[in-house]
Amino acid sequence: MLDHLSEPVLDPILSLSVAFRQDPRPEKVDLGIGVYKNSQGQTPIMQAVQLAQQKVIQTQTTKSYVGLAGCEEFNHSITQLVLGDGHSLSDRLTTIQTPGASGALRMLGDLMRVAQPDTTVWLTNPSYINHKPVMEAAGLKVKYYAYFSPETKMVDLAAMMSDLAQAGPKDVVLLHGCCHNPTGADIDFSVWQAITELSLKQGFTPFVDIAYQGFGESLEGDAQGVRYMAQRVEEMLITTSCSKNFGLYRERTGAAIVLGKNAQQVANARGKMLTLARATYTMPPDHGAALVKTVLQDEKLTNLWLQELTEMQQRLLSLRQTLCNELRNQHNTSQFDFIQSHKGMFTMLGFSPEQMGRLRDQFAIYAVADGRINIAGLTEKDIPYVAEAIVSVS
Ligand code: LMR
Repeated sequence: MLDHLSEPVLDPILSLSVAFRQDPRPEKVDLGIGVYKNSQGQTPIMQAVQLAQQKVIQTQTTKSYVGLAGCEEFNHSITQLVLGDGHSLSDRLTTIQTPGASGALRMLGDLMRVAQPDTTVWLTNPSYINHKPVMEAAGLKVKYYAYFSPETKMVDLAAMMSDLAQAGPKDVVLLHGCCHNPTGADIDFSVWQAITELSLKQGFTPFVDIAYQGFGESLEGDAQGVRYMAQRVEEMLITTSCSKNFGLYRERTGAAIVLGKNAQQVANARGKMLTLARATYTMPPDHGAALVKTVLQDEKLTNLWLQELTEMQQRLLSLRQTLCNELRNQHNTSQFDFIQSHKGMFTMLGFSPEQMGRLRDQFAIYAVADGRINIAGLTEKDIPYVAEAIVSVS
């Protein structure tokens, strides 16, 4: 049986971390996987999360099963975080906790396949490297719509809107809620409004993946588009993650949110998701959700977490600014100024796989072959060296 298997293919992001660890060069810099590092190059546990963890350890009395949808208090809190306190959608919404946002993507992919097997999922060109494999593993067709302009390094709005005008009722259009992965180029609020109009006109279903809420502008600002859309469309799918904004990467804490036309439709979607969960992993791991719930139910911890999140977001802005300045000084052009216009962790440099290979081979700088660098992986002291390397391979 196993003879039929083809040779293993390395994951384009996760394999970088392994290669980085094995690289003996002391000057090495890891700008691969999307993980936030502080100025000491560490990814510490957030203080609010640490305090919540102490509280959970002191008060938790059992490790018995939770339930197929995971922790309901977490589901409630995370839905409020994404859609806002004042949303009026409760009877048209359902949320289940999932093993990370990849788990949420797969859950919603499976739900789409069961609900409408001939669904085509439209992804931004380019999109998060794992979107296509997850949607295809769920048995769905995948198509790309125009998004990033390699020339301007910003969103090609005209091309995007013209592609989306071709999407119809059997299509699901996946949008990045904020901090586009991999490009860092976001759409602004007026574009969210225009896509909402188009969705109502063409009948396609919006699917928003919001994995970096709080890293772009602010917790509220980053959710403006998804919130606007949710108030206006009949059906919508949302995935969210606590990996980045709570720093819970390895705890695999995410959620799948479904908005339907009415309570019956939502109950059917929930029922189907629970059956799918049972047939896949039964229930999601609890620890991360218990921590998030504890932070969000305690005002002091919430305030501390918000402060830490804002510090990370502000530091990202300053890293972008410093890298831009350094590149301007070393290169003597404004060629790399676009880095400052990008949002969140990532920036697409516009380099070829061969140039990215040179960054790794000559300079021990690890980043994804598609040209993405993780700004959040930089430390202040790395910046002159990284700028020199970028200038050298450009
Ligand atoms: C990334 O894009 O680097 C992160 O979202 C990690 C992942 O799961 O791929």
